[in-house]
Amino acid sequence: MNRAKPAGMALAAAMVLAVSAASAEPGDARARRNYTLHCAGCHLPDGSGAPEQGVPAMRGVLIAFQKVPGGRDYLAQVPGVMNSGLSDYEIAELMNWLIPQMAGQPPAYSAAEIARLRASRPVDIVAARMQLIEKMPTDRRP
Ligand code: HEC
Repeated sequence: MNRAKPAGMALAAAMVLAVSAASAEPGDARARRNYTLHCAGCHLPDGSGAPEQGVPAMRGVLIAFQKVPGGRDYLAQVPGVMNSGLSDYEIAELMNWLIPQMAGQPPAYSAAEIARLRASRPVDIVAARMQLIEKMPTDRRP
């Protein structure tokens, strides 16, 4: 019985270590991992997508969406983001990491904003996308 105690303590210590390791993962590393797990299957690791199959290229394009009214909201409201299963916090973190890399301005979404955008998603995302593109200068359209 005496020998069970140190083993139990070691297990408890190991669990504490595992929990703190998970929460200590830096936001950028977690965002990168979430992109790989939840987005890269369609968008590819470098964001080039598969435009011929309807997955738009993100690089150099997201900034054009950010510059039209409603575009910032749209970027976080696409089904691939909202249906990813990630929390509002993880989505904010992922988008704040991803968008600047795709030549956009840092969007600085908060988890609260993602929650609001989740509740007000356009029913027809393809139509919403087209309406935003029509607001862009012709030479900036994706
Ligand atoms: C199943 C394939 C798929 C997955 C997975 C996916 N997307 Fe998408 N994404 C699309 C398609 C298709 C569009 C075009 C809009 C639409 O029809 O939904 C899009 C559009 C976007 C856009 C707007 C770009 C534009 O030109 O309209 C962003 C930003 C984006 N996705 C980010 C993400 C992120 C971040 C993830 C992961 C959390 C993700 N997507 C996961 C397919 C996907």
